[in-house]
Amino acid sequence: MSATIISGKDLAESLRERVRERAARFLEQHGRKPGLHVVLVGDDPASQVYVRNKERAAERDGLEGKVHRLPADTSMEAVLAKIDELNRDDSIDGILVQLPLPKHLDEQKVIDAIDPMKDVDGLTPLSAGFLVTGREGLRPCTPSGCMHILRSIGFDPAGRRALVVGRSILVGKPIALMLLEANATVTVAHSRTKDLEARVAEADLVVAAVGRPEFIRGEWLKEGAVVIDVGINRLEDGRLVGDVDFEGAKERAGAVTPVPGGVGPMTIACLIENTVIAAERRSAGG
Ligand code: GUN
Repeated sequence: MSATIISGKDLAESLRERVRERAARFLEQHGRKPGLHVVLVGDDPASQVYVRNKERAAERDGLEGKVHRLPADTSMEAVLAKIDELNRDDSIDGILVQLPLPKHLDEQKVIDAIDPMKDVDGLTPLSAGFLVTGREGLRPCTPSGCMHILRSIGFDPAGRRALVVGRSILVGKPIALMLLEANATVTVAHSRTKDLEARVAEADLVVAAVGRPEFIRGEWLKEGAVVIDVGINRLEDGRLVGDVDFEGAKERAGAVTPVPGGVGPMTIACLIENTVIAAERRSAGG
């Protein structure tokens, strides 16, 4: 059997087309573009690339995109002052602080400072609370992208066994909640999980978000399983690979996302979508 390779790139393009129309309508009605501002502290090379991609995507889709680059030794006070400035600026709808932050900064405290109405990353305690309680709110972008991908291939999680590998606040925890909301039977595996291979073998859906290159072997998979690979790992030889052994997965899975060109483009599309949603909600008074 040879798995369907899911093009996140094509899917992201069609989502962005729809969002672009909404952004244009917002401009027409409000005389300004939805504004997305990204805060980048330090010079982590991967973060630099991600942030540039976000800025470009925003501008291409009719948003006002801006990156605030702060030096690696910026103090906590200065980062909080920058967020306060962005919170107060009425022309800004979405604020994203690129993670990871330099070690001397308290990541949670920085996220907590973001106005929840502008939390397009869906990481503030209020957004997380909306997700846990099943209420409408801004949802984290990567997990939203994964759910879009599942819908696009007609995979209904209801009653299926879903295995999430990884428990980060960016991906693992929120995707587990979203799959639960979609009535899957969800298992969350992490570094202390015993016999991961057996858990993978039982799963109808595997979402891999551990940040370890080709960690999940194709031969572990259940025949026909759907595999969503969130990992982006740069190998020493320069190649970019996911958390799943793609060649092996292609032999056993029913459908699998590639790296690059799978989840990554969907994350950006969902960020743009969240920014337009935030702009529409803010202009409607919350
Ligand atoms: N770093 C890697 N992915 C993300 C993301 O989705 N949001 C933020 N803020 N930082 C990231």
